[in-house]
Amino acid sequence: MTERSLPDGLHPDTLAVREAVERSQWGEHSEALYLTSSFVQPDAATAARRFANEEPGYTYSRTSNPTVTSFERRLASMEGTESAVATSTGMSAILLLALTMLKAGDHVICSQSMFGSTIKLIGTEMARFGVTTSFVSQTDVAAWQAAIRPETRLLFAETPTNPLGDLCDIAALAEIAHAHGALLAVDNSFASPVLQQPVKFGADLVVHSGTKLLDGQGRVMAGAVCGSKALVEDKMGAFMRGGGLNLAPFNAWVVLKGMETLSLRVKAMSAAALELAQWLRTHPKVARVYYAGLPDHPQYALAMRQQSGMGGGVLAFDVVGSDPEALRANAFHVIDSTRVCSITANLGDVKTTITHPASTSHGRLAEDQRLAAGISQGLIRLSVGLEHIEDIKADLCRGLDTLS
Ligand SMILES: Cc1ncc(COP(=O)(O)O)c(C=O)c1O
Repeated sequence: MTERSLPDGLHPDTLAVREAVERSQWGEHSEALYLTSSFVQPDAATAARRFANEEPGYTYSRTSNPTVTSFERRLASMEGTESAVATSTGMSAILLLALTMLKAGDHVICSQSMFGSTIKLIGTEMARFGVTTSFVSQTDVAAWQAAIRPETRLLFAETPTNPLGDLCDIAALAEIAHAHGALLAVDNSFASPVLQQPVKFGADLVVHSGTKLLDGQGRVMAGAVCGSKALVEDKMGAFMRGGGLNLAPFNAWVVLKGMETLSLRVKAMSAAALELAQWLRTHPKVARVYYAGLPDHPQYALAMRQQSGMGGGVLAFDVVGSDPEALRANAFHVIDSTRVCSITANLGDVKTTITHPASTSHGRLAEDQRLAAGISQGLIRLSVGLEHIEDIKADLCRGLDTLS
Protein backbone atom coordinates (compact mmCIF):
# COMPACT_ATOMS: atom_id res chain seq x y z
CA MET A 1 0.00 0.00 0.00
CA THR A 2 1.34 3.48 -0.83
CA GLU A 3 2.05 5.32 2.41
CA ARG A 4 1.98 9.05 3.01
CA SER A 5 5.47 9.76 4.31
CA LEU A 6 5.80 11.30 7.78
CA PRO A 7 6.94 14.94 7.92
CA ASP A 8 10.40 15.73 9.34
CA GLY A 9 10.94 17.06 12.84
CA LEU A 10 8.32 15.00 14.69
CA HIS A 11 8.66 14.74 18.47
CA PRO A 12 9.76 11.46 20.08
CA ASP A 13 6.23 10.91 21.48
CA THR A 14 4.88 10.99 17.92
CA LEU A 15 7.69 8.83 16.54
CA ALA A 16 6.96 6.22 19.23
CA VAL A 17 3.47 5.79 17.78
CA ARG A 18 3.92 6.59 14.09
CA GLU A 19 7.46 5.77 12.94
CA ALA A 20 8.04 2.70 10.77
CA VAL A 21 4.50 1.39 10.39
CA GLU A 22 5.01 -0.97 7.41
CA ARG A 23 1.54 -1.63 6.01
CA SER A 24 0.83 -4.64 3.84
CA GLN A 25 -1.50 -4.54 0.82
CA TRP A 26 -4.45 -4.89 3.24
CA GLY A 27 -3.87 -1.51 4.88
CA GLU A 28 -4.08 -2.77 8.47
CA HIS A 29 -3.97 0.09 11.00
CA SER A 30 -2.01 -1.73 13.70
CA GLU A 31 1.51 -2.89 12.86
CA ALA A 32 1.53 -6.24 11.04
CA LEU A 33 3.35 -9.21 12.55
CA TYR A 34 5.43 -10.93 9.87
CA LEU A 35 5.76 -14.27 11.64
CA THR A 36 7.80 -16.03 9.02
CA SER A 37 11.30 -17.48 8.90
CA SER A 38 11.80 -17.05 5.14
CA PHE A 39 10.43 -14.98 2.25
CA VAL A 40 9.27 -16.16 -1.19
CA GLN A 41 11.23 -14.66 -4.08
CA PRO A 42 9.56 -13.66 -7.38
CA ASP A 43 12.20 -15.48 -9.44
CA ALA A 44 15.66 -17.03 -9.19
CA ALA A 45 17.52 -13.98 -10.53
CA THR A 46 15.91 -11.67 -7.93
CA ALA A 47 16.75 -14.21 -5.23
CA ALA A 48 20.38 -14.23 -6.38
CA ARG A 49 20.59 -10.43 -6.30
CA ARG A 50 18.98 -10.24 -2.85
CA PHE A 51 21.20 -12.95 -1.39
CA ALA A 52 24.22 -11.12 -2.83
CA ASN A 53 22.98 -7.93 -1.14
CA GLU A 54 22.82 -6.19 -4.54
CA GLU A 55 19.10 -5.41 -4.23
CA PRO A 56 16.96 -4.70 -1.14
CA GLY A 57 14.39 -7.34 -0.24
CA TYR A 58 13.70 -9.83 2.51
CA THR A 59 15.09 -13.36 2.18
CA TYR A 60 15.43 -14.99 5.60
CA SER A 61 14.57 -13.71 9.08
CA ARG A 62 18.11 -14.21 10.43
CA THR A 63 19.14 -11.54 7.92
CA SER A 64 16.13 -9.24 8.32
CA ASN A 65 12.38 -9.27 8.90
CA PRO A 66 9.87 -6.41 8.32
CA THR A 67 8.52 -6.43 11.89
CA VAL A 68 12.04 -6.43 13.33
CA THR A 69 13.01 -3.65 10.89
CA SER A 70 10.05 -1.57 12.13
CA PHE A 71 11.26 -1.97 15.72
CA GLU A 72 14.81 -1.02 14.70
CA ARG A 73 13.69 2.06 12.77
CA ARG A 74 11.37 3.23 15.55
CA LEU A 75 14.01 2.86 18.26
CA ALA A 76 16.69 4.55 16.13
CA SER A 77 14.37 7.49 15.46
CA MET A 78 13.63 7.87 19.19
CA GLU A 79 17.32 7.62 20.13
CA GLY A 80 18.24 10.10 17.38
CA THR A 81 20.63 7.65 15.70
CA GLU A 82 20.99 6.66 12.05
CA SER A 83 20.60 2.95 12.72
CA ALA A 84 19.62 0.29 15.22
CA VAL A 85 20.06 -3.45 15.21
CA ALA A 86 17.71 -5.63 17.26
CA THR A 87 18.86 -8.62 19.29
CA SER A 88 17.19 -11.45 21.20
CA THR A 89 17.98 -10.01 24.67
CA GLY A 90 19.81 -7.12 26.29
CA MET A 91 22.76 -9.42 26.97
CA SER A 92 22.99 -10.45 23.32
CA ALA A 93 23.09 -6.72 22.43
CA ILE A 94 26.10 -6.37 24.74
CA LEU A 95 27.65 -9.52 23.26
CA LEU A 96 27.14 -8.06 19.78
CA LEU A 97 28.81 -4.83 20.89
CA ALA A 98 31.79 -6.75 22.29
CA LEU A 99 32.19 -9.12 19.33
CA THR A 100 32.04 -6.39 16.70
CA MET A 101 33.90 -3.52 18.40
CA LEU A 102 36.69 -5.40 20.21
CA LYS A 103 39.57 -7.67 19.25
CA ALA A 104 42.45 -9.37 21.08
CA GLY A 105 44.76 -6.79 22.65
CA ASP A 106 42.02 -4.16 23.12
CA HIS A 107 41.29 -2.58 26.48
CA VAL A 108 37.85 -1.57 27.81
CA ILE A 109 36.92 0.76 30.68
CA CYS A 110 33.67 -0.15 32.37
CA SER A 111 31.77 1.17 35.35
CA GLN A 112 32.09 -1.18 38.33
CA SER A 113 28.38 -0.61 39.07
CA MET A 114 27.10 -2.08 35.81
CA PHE A 115 24.62 -4.95 35.62
CA GLY A 116 26.30 -8.10 37.02
CA SER A 117 26.01 -10.15 33.81
CA THR A 118 27.59 -7.27 31.85
CA ILE A 119 30.54 -7.24 34.25
CA LYS A 120 30.95 -11.00 33.82
CA LEU A 121 30.58 -10.93 30.03
CA ILE A 122 32.99 -8.06 29.43
CA GLY A 123 35.39 -8.70 32.32
CA THR A 124 35.57 -12.51 32.35
CA GLU A 125 34.29 -14.00 29.08
CA MET A 126 35.97 -11.44 26.81
CA ALA A 127 39.23 -11.93 28.74
CA ARG A 128 39.40 -15.42 27.18
CA PHE A 129 39.62 -13.67 23.81
CA GLY A 130 42.45 -11.35 24.86
CA VAL A 131 40.38 -8.29 25.82
CA THR A 132 41.31 -6.65 29.14
CA THR A 133 38.94 -4.52 31.19
CA SER A 134 39.43 -1.93 33.94
CA PHE A 135 36.45 -1.39 36.25
CA VAL A 136 36.19 2.13 37.66
CA SER A 137 33.86 4.21 39.81
CA GLN A 138 30.48 4.99 38.26
CA THR A 139 30.60 8.64 39.31
CA ASP A 140 34.31 9.58 39.37
CA VAL A 141 35.20 11.02 35.94
CA ALA A 142 38.89 11.33 36.94
CA ALA A 143 39.02 7.55 37.50
CA TRP A 144 37.86 6.94 33.91
CA GLN A 145 40.50 9.35 32.65
CA ALA A 146 43.22 7.68 34.76
CA ALA A 147 42.32 4.22 33.42
CA ILE A 148 42.97 5.20 29.77
CA ARG A 149 45.73 3.19 28.02
CA PRO A 150 47.06 3.44 24.48
CA GLU A 151 45.07 0.29 23.59
CA THR A 152 41.77 1.53 25.11
CA ARG A 153 39.12 1.00 22.45
CA LEU A 154 35.83 1.29 24.35
CA LEU A 155 34.35 3.06 27.39
CA PHE A 156 31.13 1.39 28.51
CA ALA A 157 28.75 3.02 31.00
CA GLU A 158 25.26 2.36 32.32
CA THR A 159 23.33 5.34 33.61
CA PRO A 160 21.43 5.46 35.87
CA THR A 161 22.59 2.22 37.41
CA ASN A 162 21.01 -0.51 39.47
CA PRO A 163 20.03 -0.41 42.35
CA LEU A 164 21.21 2.96 43.74
CA GLY A 165 20.49 5.08 40.64
CA ASP A 166 23.99 6.58 40.41
CA LEU A 167 24.68 8.48 37.19
CA CYS A 168 27.60 8.72 34.78
CA ASP A 169 28.32 12.07 33.17
CA ILE A 170 27.89 11.02 29.52
CA ALA A 171 29.33 14.22 28.01
CA ALA A 172 32.46 14.03 30.19
CA LEU A 173 33.03 10.35 29.33
CA ALA A 174 32.50 11.03 25.61
CA GLU A 175 35.17 13.72 25.75
CA ILE A 176 37.65 11.34 27.41
CA ALA A 177 36.87 8.54 24.93
CA HIS A 178 37.16 10.71 21.83
CA ALA A 179 40.36 12.43 22.98
CA HIS A 180 41.96 8.96 22.93
CA GLY A 181 40.35 7.58 19.76
CA ALA A 182 38.01 5.29 21.72
CA LEU A 183 34.25 4.83 21.49
CA LEU A 184 31.70 5.48 24.24
CA ALA A 185 28.79 3.03 24.58
CA VAL A 186 25.94 3.73 27.03
CA ASP A 187 23.43 1.19 28.34
CA ASN A 188 20.20 3.22 28.26
CA SER A 189 17.86 0.48 29.54
CA PHE A 190 16.97 2.27 32.79
CA ALA A 191 16.36 5.72 31.31
CA SER A 192 14.99 4.95 27.81
CA PRO A 193 15.12 7.62 25.09
CA VAL A 194 12.23 9.39 26.84
CA LEU A 195 14.56 10.47 29.65
CA GLN A 196 17.89 10.61 27.83
CA GLN A 197 19.31 10.26 24.33
CA PRO A 198 22.99 9.43 25.00
CA VAL A 199 24.15 10.37 21.46
CA LYS A 200 23.07 13.97 22.17
CA PHE A 201 25.75 14.03 24.87
CA GLY A 202 28.38 12.49 22.58
CA ALA A 203 27.93 8.71 23.03
CA ASP A 204 28.69 6.65 19.93
CA LEU A 205 26.60 3.59 20.73
CA VAL A 206 23.46 3.04 22.80
CA VAL A 207 22.59 -0.38 24.21
CA HIS A 208 19.12 -1.49 25.32
CA SER A 209 17.57 -4.31 27.23
CA GLY A 210 14.16 -4.02 25.54
CA THR A 211 12.98 -6.48 28.20
CA LYS A 212 12.71 -3.50 30.56
CA LEU A 213 11.00 -0.20 29.73
CA LEU A 214 10.60 -0.66 25.97
CA ASP A 215 8.26 -3.63 26.41
CA GLY A 216 7.16 -2.24 29.75
CA GLN A 217 4.72 -5.00 30.52
CA GLY A 218 7.06 -7.84 31.40
CA ARG A 219 6.17 -10.02 28.41
CA VAL A 220 9.19 -10.65 26.19
CA MET A 221 12.98 -10.48 26.09
CA ALA A 222 14.54 -8.08 23.58
CA GLY A 223 17.65 -5.99 23.02
CA ALA A 224 19.18 -3.51 20.60
CA VAL A 225 22.24 -1.44 19.79
CA CYS A 226 21.78 2.03 18.22
CA GLY A 227 24.39 4.24 16.56
CA SER A 228 25.78 5.41 13.25
CA LYS A 229 25.15 3.55 9.99
CA ALA A 230 28.87 2.75 9.76
CA LEU A 231 29.09 1.13 13.20
CA VAL A 232 25.65 -0.40 13.54
CA GLU A 233 24.15 -1.16 10.14
CA ASP A 234 27.37 -1.90 8.27
CA LYS A 235 29.47 -3.54 10.97
CA MET A 236 26.95 -5.08 13.39
CA GLY A 237 24.35 -5.78 10.69
CA ALA A 238 26.94 -7.69 8.65
CA PHE A 239 27.91 -9.72 11.72
CA MET A 240 24.25 -10.53 12.45
CA ARG A 241 23.77 -12.28 9.10
CA GLY A 242 25.91 -15.11 10.45
CA GLY A 243 25.95 -14.29 14.14
CA GLY A 244 22.35 -15.31 14.77
CA LEU A 245 21.65 -13.13 17.82
CA ASN A 246 18.39 -11.97 16.21
CA LEU A 247 15.23 -10.75 17.83
CA ALA A 248 12.22 -12.96 17.03
CA PRO A 249 9.52 -11.18 14.94
CA PHE A 250 6.84 -11.88 17.56
CA ASN A 251 8.96 -10.31 20.31
CA ALA A 252 9.74 -7.34 18.04
CA TRP A 253 6.01 -6.83 17.50
CA VAL A 254 5.26 -6.94 21.25
CA VAL A 255 8.00 -4.37 21.97
CA LEU A 256 6.84 -2.15 19.08
CA LYS A 257 3.40 -2.00 20.68
CA GLY A 258 5.00 -1.35 24.08
CA MET A 259 6.92 1.61 22.69
CA GLU A 260 3.67 3.35 21.75
CA THR A 261 3.05 4.04 25.44
CA LEU A 262 6.70 4.40 26.53
CA SER A 263 6.63 8.15 26.98
CA LEU A 264 3.42 8.19 29.04
CA ARG A 265 4.64 5.33 31.18
CA VAL A 266 8.11 6.72 31.86
CA LYS A 267 6.80 10.18 32.78
CA ALA A 268 4.10 8.74 35.09
CA MET A 269 6.54 6.32 36.76
CA SER A 270 9.07 9.08 37.24
CA ALA A 271 6.51 11.39 38.87
CA ALA A 272 5.32 8.58 41.16
CA ALA A 273 8.91 7.59 42.08
CA LEU A 274 9.69 11.19 43.08
CA GLU A 275 6.59 11.37 45.28
CA LEU A 276 7.42 8.01 46.87
CA ALA A 277 11.04 9.03 47.47
CA GLN A 278 9.91 12.24 49.21
CA TRP A 279 7.39 10.31 51.30
CA LEU A 280 9.76 7.46 52.20
CA ARG A 281 12.40 9.80 53.61
CA THR A 282 9.85 11.06 56.15
CA HIS A 283 9.11 7.54 57.42
CA PRO A 284 10.80 6.82 60.79
CA LYS A 285 11.73 3.25 59.76
CA VAL A 286 13.56 4.39 56.62
CA ALA A 287 17.23 5.22 57.20
CA ARG A 288 18.09 6.58 53.75
CA VAL A 289 16.54 7.08 50.31
CA TYR A 290 18.53 6.88 47.05
CA TYR A 291 16.94 8.82 44.20
CA ALA A 292 18.70 11.31 41.92
CA GLY A 293 15.43 13.23 41.43
CA LEU A 294 15.64 14.54 45.02
CA PRO A 295 17.08 18.09 45.00
CA ASP A 296 19.68 17.33 47.70
CA HIS A 297 21.06 14.27 45.86
CA PRO A 298 24.73 14.95 44.94
CA GLN A 299 23.99 14.22 41.26
CA TYR A 300 20.67 16.12 41.10
CA ALA A 301 21.98 18.80 38.71
CA LEU A 302 23.44 16.18 36.37
CA ALA A 303 20.22 14.14 36.51
CA MET A 304 18.11 17.14 35.59
CA ARG A 305 20.46 18.11 32.74
CA GLN A 306 20.95 14.63 31.34
CA GLN A 307 17.55 13.03 32.03
CA SER A 308 15.12 15.67 30.74
CA GLY A 309 14.45 16.98 34.24
CA MET A 310 13.28 13.62 35.60
CA GLY A 311 14.65 11.09 38.07
CA GLY A 312 13.26 7.93 36.46
CA GLY A 313 11.08 5.18 37.89
CA VAL A 314 13.59 3.27 40.05
CA LEU A 315 14.47 4.18 43.63
CA ALA A 316 16.06 2.42 46.57
CA PHE A 317 15.94 2.83 50.33
CA ASP A 318 17.60 1.46 53.46
CA VAL A 319 15.38 0.28 56.28
CA VAL A 320 16.59 0.80 59.84
CA GLY A 321 18.49 -1.97 61.64
CA SER A 322 21.34 -2.40 64.12
CA ASP A 323 23.49 -4.98 62.30
CA PRO A 324 23.52 -6.88 58.97
CA GLU A 325 21.29 -9.64 60.33
CA ALA A 326 18.68 -7.21 61.67
CA LEU A 327 18.85 -5.15 58.47
CA ARG A 328 18.20 -8.22 56.34
CA ALA A 329 15.35 -9.40 58.57
CA ASN A 330 13.75 -5.95 58.46
CA ALA A 331 14.11 -5.67 54.67
CA PHE A 332 12.60 -9.14 54.23
CA HIS A 333 9.73 -8.16 56.56
CA VAL A 334 8.90 -5.06 54.47
CA ILE A 335 9.10 -7.02 51.21
CA ASP A 336 7.09 -9.98 52.51
CA SER A 337 4.38 -7.70 53.96
CA THR A 338 3.50 -6.25 50.53
CA ARG A 339 0.38 -7.54 48.84
CA VAL A 340 0.32 -5.33 45.75
CA CYS A 341 3.99 -5.00 44.70
CA SER A 342 5.48 -7.97 42.86
CA ILE A 343 8.48 -9.61 44.54
CA THR A 344 10.63 -9.93 41.43
CA ALA A 345 13.92 -8.54 40.20
CA ASN A 346 12.68 -7.27 36.80
CA LEU A 347 12.04 -3.55 36.42
CA GLY A 348 10.53 -0.95 34.14
CA ASP A 349 7.16 -2.75 34.30
CA VAL A 350 3.71 -1.20 34.72
CA LYS A 351 3.48 -3.39 37.84
CA THR A 352 5.58 -2.09 40.75
CA THR A 353 8.36 -4.53 41.62
CA ILE A 354 10.17 -4.81 44.94
CA THR A 355 13.46 -6.59 45.48
CA HIS A 356 16.29 -7.14 47.97
CA PRO A 357 19.43 -6.53 45.89
CA ALA A 358 21.88 -8.03 48.44
CA SER A 359 20.30 -11.47 48.07
CA THR A 360 19.09 -11.34 44.44
CA SER A 361 20.69 -9.17 41.71
CA HIS A 362 23.89 -8.68 43.75
CA GLY A 363 23.71 -11.94 45.72
CA ARG A 364 26.82 -13.40 44.12
CA LEU A 365 29.08 -10.57 45.29
CA ALA A 366 31.14 -11.02 48.47
CA GLU A 367 29.83 -8.95 51.40
CA ASP A 368 32.77 -6.50 51.22
CA GLN A 369 32.25 -5.98 47.43
CA ARG A 370 28.56 -5.40 48.08
CA LEU A 371 29.25 -2.86 50.81
CA ALA A 372 31.81 -1.11 48.57
CA ALA A 373 29.01 -0.80 46.01
CA GLY A 374 26.78 0.71 48.73
CA ILE A 375 24.42 -2.27 48.88
CA SER A 376 23.65 -3.12 52.49
CA GLN A 377 21.48 -5.95 53.79
CA GLY A 378 18.84 -3.33 54.59
CA LEU A 379 18.53 -2.02 51.03
CA ILE A 380 15.24 -2.40 49.12
CA ARG A 381 14.80 -1.47 45.46
CA LEU A 382 11.49 -0.37 44.00
CA SER A 383 10.70 -0.07 40.31
CA VAL A 384 7.59 2.05 40.43
CA GLY A 385 4.70 1.06 38.16
CA LEU A 386 1.35 2.58 37.29
CA GLU A 387 -0.76 1.60 40.29
CA HIS A 388 -2.34 4.42 42.35
CA ILE A 389 0.44 5.84 44.49
CA GLU A 390 -1.60 5.68 47.72
CA ASP A 391 -1.95 1.91 47.24
CA ILE A 392 1.83 1.56 46.94
CA LYS A 393 2.41 3.72 50.03
CA ALA A 394 -0.10 1.59 51.97
CA ASP A 395 1.62 -1.56 50.69
CA LEU A 396 5.00 -0.37 51.99
CA CYS A 397 3.46 0.79 55.27
CA ARG A 398 2.21 -2.74 55.96
CA GLY A 399 5.82 -3.72 56.67
CA LEU A 400 7.42 -0.41 57.64
CA ASP A 401 4.80 0.45 60.29
CA THR A 402 5.15 -2.97 61.93
CA LEU A 403 8.96 -2.97 62.21
CA SER A 404 10.11 -3.13 65.82
C1 LIG B 1 21.00 -2.28 32.66
C2 LIG B 1 20.81 -3.63 32.09
N1 LIG B 1 21.38 -3.93 30.91
C3 LIG B 1 21.22 -5.13 30.33
C4 LIG B 1 20.47 -6.12 30.94
C5 LIG B 1 20.32 -7.44 30.27
O1 LIG B 1 19.10 -7.49 29.60
P1 LIG B 1 18.31 -8.84 29.30
O2 LIG B 1 17.82 -9.35 30.61
O3 LIG B 1 17.24 -8.40 28.36
O4 LIG B 1 19.28 -9.79 28.67
C6 LIG B 1 19.83 -5.86 32.15
C7 LIG B 1 18.99 -6.89 32.80
O5 LIG B 1 18.52 -6.75 33.90
C8 LIG B 1 20.02 -4.58 32.75
O6 LIG B 1 19.48 -4.28 33.95
